[in-house]
Amino acid sequence: MKPLTAHGKAILFGEHSVVYGHPALAMAIEDALCATRVTARPGGVKVHVPAWGLVCDDGADSKIAEALRLLESLLPGSGGMDLEVASSIPMGAGLGSSAALSVLLVKALAHVRGMDLDLTCVRNTAHALERVFHGNPSGLDDATATYGGLCLFHKGGADRLPFAEQLDTQIHRLHLDPPPLVVADSLVKRSTAEKVAWVRRLREEDPALVERAFLAMTEALFSGVEAIRTRDRQALGRAMNTCHKALSDLGLSCPELDRMVEVACSAGAYGAKVTGAGGGGCIIAFAPGREEAVKQALETAGFPAFTIQKEGWI
Ligand code: PMV
Repeated sequence: MKPLTAHGKAILFGEHSVVYGHPALAMAIEDALCATRVTARPGGVKVHVPAWGLVCDDGADSKIAEALRLLESLLPGSGGMDLEVASSIPMGAGLGSSAALSVLLVKALAHVRGMDLDLTCVRNTAHALERVFHGNPSGLDDATATYGGLCLFHKGGADRLPFAEQLDTQIHRLHLDPPPLVVADSLVKRSTAEKVAWVRRLREEDPALVERAFLAMTEALFSGVEAIRTRDRQALGRAMNTCHKALSDLGLSCPELDRMVEVACSAGAYGAKVTGAGGGGCIIAFAPGREEAVKQALETAGFPAFTIQKEGWI
């Protein structure tokens, strides 16, 4: 049997603005989570992710336990499972760990209960679990965790582009080579729900400031998509820097993230930005052909780094 997997994600453009109906572009960290053991058991679900130090069962008093109970009630049939998961991404650092875990939980319990779910059903169920983790997620993370590739997401209906395949009403997969990226972790912990609430409050207090930042991000997204299509490295780097500045204006950067962006660009990246909810977590840097130098510089500065999508673009 093919191993059960789910994708992580790095948001290239549109985090936060996507919650308010603007488009966003994410690229999958392919198969970031992989089930290493799935064993059926008569009742209850237990999950173990050694890389995250996470062990949880559905009787516990936590968000994950709540999500496990919801999962058991949403999928038809009966029976539980013991699931062990290997992860190549950190937890809670802006790389879609909770959405990836949600997708993998759905696939694994469906497998144990003898069901063959289509991807729309996997995504919809994972979205319900994501609501337990984050309150009112846009759906970008669970869509990318389910479908993989380079995903253009738009809540109000996906935009029509000639090089895109429509996957559902909200999402298109772009048939373009995803850019190679260096990902680095600030090791600063933050909560997605808190950062989303922060932007909501800011939007109530100063709607013009927030709208300006969202518009800058949407413009950067369309320049970025065009730059990916034409392989214009400078333009893609510029678009990423614009997006980082806009997120910074919304108070979603922090000294560590700003320093990482600076270190990455000084070491040769064309552009870099915070990715995900911000205020901590990860940055992504675009440095085709210079990944090793950028990764080294970030690690020397104390930030663990890795590369995704190394081939292509060279
Ligand atoms: O930091 P993450 O991986 O949880 O990503 C959050 C992305 C947001 O746009 C901030 C929220 C959302 O629901 O899309």
